[in-house]
Amino acid sequence: MRLDKFVCKSTELTKAEAHAFIEQGLVQVNHKVVTDIKSQVHQNNQVSLNQIALNLRPFRYILMHKPANTICSNLDEIYPSLFNFLEIDHKEELHIVGRLDADTTGMVLITDDGHWSFNITRPEKDCVKEYRVALSQPLAESAIERFQQGVKLQGEAELTLPAKLSFIDEKNVTLGITQGKFHQVKRMFAAVGNRVIQLHRQKIGSLKLDLEEGQWRYLTQAEIDSFKTHET
Ligand code: URA
Repeated sequence: MRLDKFVCKSTELTKAEAHAFIEQGLVQVNHKVVTDIKSQVHQNNQVSLNQIALNLRPFRYILMHKPANTICSNLDEIYPSLFNFLEIDHKEELHIVGRLDADTTGMVLITDDGHWSFNITRPEKDCVKEYRVALSQPLAESAIERFQQGVKLQGEAELTLPAKLSFIDEKNVTLGITQGKFHQVKRMFAAVGNRVIQLHRQKIGSLKLDLEEGQWRYLTQAEIDSFKTHET
């Protein structure tokens, strides 16, 4: 990561303060002064400020139940940001792992560990995101096969990757997908002539949602590790 980021993530300094200290020659990497804020440091490098060793804050892994009419963004826009529910420090260091639309409810993972996020978001990692879907029209059973084969989304050249569709009844289904294209679930049902009227993410990998709307909790170590098995 960049040196200025390392300094911010291991102190209470603002970015501007970190830049000033680095440029003044107060920061050393492996016992040598480094004044380039953009220089790359590894998390195992010995970084010090004024001769005091800096240690990165541990990564954080959070599960949240997203209510409708909230957005998966660090800032409020038309709707309030999900981050309003988190009463913790350094929220600006966190990101959402696979965003949901404003009207979608359900499971959201939040972290500051970018490598861990890739195990969940990258399609080749095969991490299934399972949605409960309410539809405007009865769905033909042939959709099971079509989603398994892949459908062509409007504006896309490639078919979607195989997805697992299960019926609850003719207008309520679950769909498991490993990709995360923009509005993917809504566009998949549009591709078979239907319309999503309610969408809820209920499972990611083996992790199920066990919180009320608006609640959050830290993941257990076993839950964090369950996503690392997807590493190649
Ligand atoms: N697919 C969608 O269409 N919307 C979401 O919020 C998530 C997946």
